Amino acid sequence: MRTQVAIIGGGPSGLLLGQLLYKKGIDAVILERKTRDYVLGRIRAGVLEQGLVHLLEEAGVADRLHAEGHEHDGTVIVHDQTSFRVDFRKQTGTPVVVYGQTEVTRDLYDAREAANLPTVFEVENVKIHDAKGNSPYLTYQVNGTPKRLECEFIAGCDGFHGVSRRTIPDDVRQEYEKVYPFGWLGILSQTPPVADELIYANSDRGFALCSMRNDHLSRYYVQCPITDTVEDWSDDRFWEELKRRLPSEIAQQIITGPSIEKSIAPLRSFVTEPMRWGNLFLCGDAAHIVPPTGAKGLNTAASDVHYLYHALTEFYHTGSREGIDSYSQKALDRVWKAERFSWWFSSLMHRSPDQTPFDRKMQAAELAFLAQSDAQKQVFAQNYVGLPY
Ligand code: APR
Ligand code: PHB
Repeated sequence: MRTQVAIIGGGPSGLLLGQLLYKKGIDAVILERKTRDYVLGRIRAGVLEQGLVHLLEEAGVADRLHAEGHEHDGTVIVHDQTSFRVDFRKQTGTPVVVYGQTEVTRDLYDAREAANLPTVFEVENVKIHDAKGNSPYLTYQVNGTPKRLECEFIAGCDGFHGVSRRTIPDDVRQEYEKVYPFGWLGILSQTPPVADELIYANSDRGFALCSMRNDHLSRYYVQCPITDTVEDWSDDRFWEELKRRLPSEIAQQIITGPSIEKSIAPLRSFVTEPMRWGNLFLCGDAAHIVPPTGAKGLNTAASDVHYLYHALTEFYHTGSREGIDSYSQKALDRVWKAERFSWWFSSLMHRSPDQTPFDRKMQAAELAFLAQSDAQKQVFAQNYVGLPY
């Protein structure tokens, strides 16, 4: 088989890139390790920056997003018993859109299938060959049968555990990592959200977040020790702990119900440099990970896709390699700013086991300053709604 762009990974990055390239007449094949249903079974965050919304519109997959997504003009931040609001629209003129990543992925798969674009599911042992040469290709198996995909470029959209990042030689690749000493226990419940906007809470018992997928589906999180397992947390224990981390006037409004999904996620900050090696380009989680506090995972994958899509389109339409040659630097410039905001917001909102009383006072002062300062709220809002591409 032969194509122009071989995309490894059928998650949001690979699907969005494939759809945008298709719209520009550029052929791409997606190789996905799992099944479509498995990919769609993943529960992920659901806050979309306008940049991602515009990319989805350009890809022709934004109809359901506009019909079912909810614009949020701000968010509430709580510190112990006090709360304040950051008004995104007042500070930046821009809202965010709340629409589940699973739904984004579903819309992208539906569009890909409607256009009859090639996706190979349940591939095994994908290997990247001659990425630095003039004839890159992939080998892989399907049901044990060896396959080969000739291509001109390879997009490594295969996430943190994929093969692409590891293909860049150790003496070329520089990795930066911070692992946080706590995790997020999240539940999904078919209950009305406690509020119309997200609520981020820093309490002396730890972080909590009140989010949602729609008017009937709530998503809640509490910070937990990284050594905890889901079995340690009954639904009753979760609801009681969540309420203890929120001001009483919010806690008493929470409508509880059985969890339909419950999981614990570790938190890490991670970046790989460079994001390009020859004809291999890393996109999304393959190159970087953020703690979910700032909802930057999907949105930073989107800006990578934006830069790579434009670079490949420029090459195929004009022959220029300028975008290709500047991809890694452009993508990383924005990646690091998203990493900084995610690290800063995570450090501000969580209670870390190694925190000293002085550290807690610094958190309190930072939160008090954010509550009082319009300038600080504007900086927060600019980062939260998404820095320009
Ligand atoms: N071969 C083929 N496919 C692979 C391989 C491989 N060797 N390794 C991983 N994959 C697939 C995974 O099954 C997954 O479907 O690549 C896809 C990568 O998708 P994601 O991990 O979702 O990463 P990405 O598409 O970059 O999306 C980033 O997803 O994880 C969240 O928080 C993250 O919101 C962010 C978004
Ligand atoms: C979510 O709804 O899952 C969510 C929202 C905002 C975040 C993280 C997760 O910062």
